[in-house]
Amino acid sequence: MKGVVLAGGLGTRLYPLTKVTNKHLLPVYNKPMIYYPIETLVGAGITDILLVTGGNSAGDFLRLIGNGKEFGLKHINYTYQEGEGGIAEALGLAEHFADRDLITVVLGDNIIESSIRKAVDDFKRQKEGAKIFLKAVDDPERFGVAVLNGDKVTRIDEKPKKPESSYAVIGIYMYDGTVFDIIKTLKPSGRGELEITDVNNAYIERGSMTYEILDGWWTDAGTFPSLARANQLVASRYGVL
Ligand code: G1P
Repeated sequence: MKGVVLAGGLGTRLYPLTKVTNKHLLPVYNKPMIYYPIETLVGAGITDILLVTGGNSAGDFLRLIGNGKEFGLKHINYTYQEGEGGIAEALGLAEHFADRDLITVVLGDNIIESSIRKAVDDFKRQKEGAKIFLKAVDDPERFGVAVLNGDKVTRIDEKPKKPESSYAVIGIYMYDGTVFDIIKTLKPSGRGELEITDVNNAYIERGSMTYEILDGWWTDAGTFPSLARANQLVASRYGVL
């Protein structure tokens, strides 16, 4: 199992904080945002990691993270996404690195409380297809929303005006090597991006998608309210705020 952290994009929803720097370098309580998704992977036992960056200050990731020593790593891989082609396009840059292996993908602005090690081990046994995590939220219209029928996800709607459930699809995804074949078939969405939700719907249509309900809290940090919430949730780990 290999890990991919997606940390590109222009972070326009956080302007002017992102005018001169990359969203994923902004502080979340006592660490830069990018530390949390790397810790999520390392905490699940994944040490072969690719960081996909892009936009402003891409070189600062190398200065900040170096070879990953602070995370107990000997080495970390980097690649660069040009432009704003979306999450699925950024993931497409990981094809050579993944080399048909199973991968766990974490969006660089997604922060979680608990370990995902058990789900990663379950996916290793699943061997093929995909696995996503769901979390019930008060504002599902901000996210990909899962439509469920018993223990199956039947569809994911990206930022629906009228969500059919309260289950957000969080930004941690597990895929087999065919994910790169799916990405090559995608067409840009209304916002001009290759959508990770379209990748997930392709696995659902094949009948090879499983899901877990995430334990503990989860937040993204890409808007002012969610960045404030991320700071509060991490601070609460230290008994502050
Ligand atoms: C992205 C995905 C969405 C997912 C979310 C999780 O949205 O498109 O499906 O629920 O990440 O953070 P974005 O925030 O990039 O618009």
